Amino acid sequence: MKSLIDILDLSVEEIDSLIKTSEDSIGNPGDYADACRRKKLATLFFEPSTRTRLSFEAAMYELGGNVLSVAGGGTSSAAKGESVADTAKVVSCYADIIAIRHPKEGAAYVAAQNATVPVINAGDGGHCHPTQTLADLLTIKREKGGFSGLTVGVCGDLKFGRTVHSLINALSRYDGMKFVLISPEELKVPSYVKNETLKKKGIPYEQTTDMSDALPELDILYMTRIQKERFFNEEDYLRLKDTYILTPDKLRNARHDLCIMHPLPRVNEISVAVDSDPRACYFRQALNGKYIRMALILMLLERAVKI
Ligand code: NCD
Repeated sequence: MKSLIDILDLSVEEIDSLIKTSEDSIGNPGDYADACRRKKLATLFFEPSTRTRLSFEAAMYELGGNVLSVAGGGTSSAAKGESVADTAKVVSCYADIIAIRHPKEGAAYVAAQNATVPVINAGDGGHCHPTQTLADLLTIKREKGGFSGLTVGVCGDLKFGRTVHSLINALSRYDGMKFVLISPEELKVPSYVKNETLKKKGIPYEQTTDMSDALPELDILYMTRIQKERFFNEEDYLRLKDTYILTPDKLRNARHDLCIMHPLPRVNEISVAVDSDPRACYFRQALNGKYIRMALILMLLERAVKI
């Protein structure tokens, strides 16, 4: 694997190794401070981002490397009509590794086909978001100790939420998983995720529109934002945007060791009053994003040297 486009590009063993490196870097940051000295990461972000771009950049700085950044396509030659393929070829001349976020599904794949350095998909449209999933997996490992035998509720915009698609694919490789898919009718998980992953692997899942009903049986509740930018009309967004709002009251029937996750940004789907509940893991999840991206950059750069 030269690049990371889809979470399934990584084997379970490779994910274990990334988690191990992350945990080691948390305990021994000094051992990593020069690991990427003189290396450059280019972050090409053609869609808004706070956590993903900044955690990639913070990760590279923690490794002693440098960052070249395009934030917002409007400031790069993409605004002049340059193709993703050409951009990838050119940026390969300046950087040792590229992280790209783009509104079009498949853009990171095209970049990887044309770049001569490793490419990391930092989110391609409503398709997938493998590094968020790595952050999610590190969080689950740190909060729950491992991945087997968990009942995972994913709630909100399961249609356009790319983090959900990658997370279901990743967790489906572990034993004893069960999913509860909580969404409005219009925002159900795409059939390719259901058919290619859940049905094909015989993984038990339920679909429901009722979050409160599902809550008591969950080990993990993964909340998501309704993805406004992917809607075709504002009316639908306005109608659906507040379908699920997690409040302390609703959490009364949840397990005491529930892990509440959210890739963030949150809009209204988790009330701020939930933040002080020890079960709220989402800010720790955001921090884990930096550690796992350090491990990923390191792994891909080490491989690139060997190729
Ligand atoms: C997510 C994304 O961009 O898909 N954010 C993130 O990377 N942490 C989720 C979202 O925007 O709702």
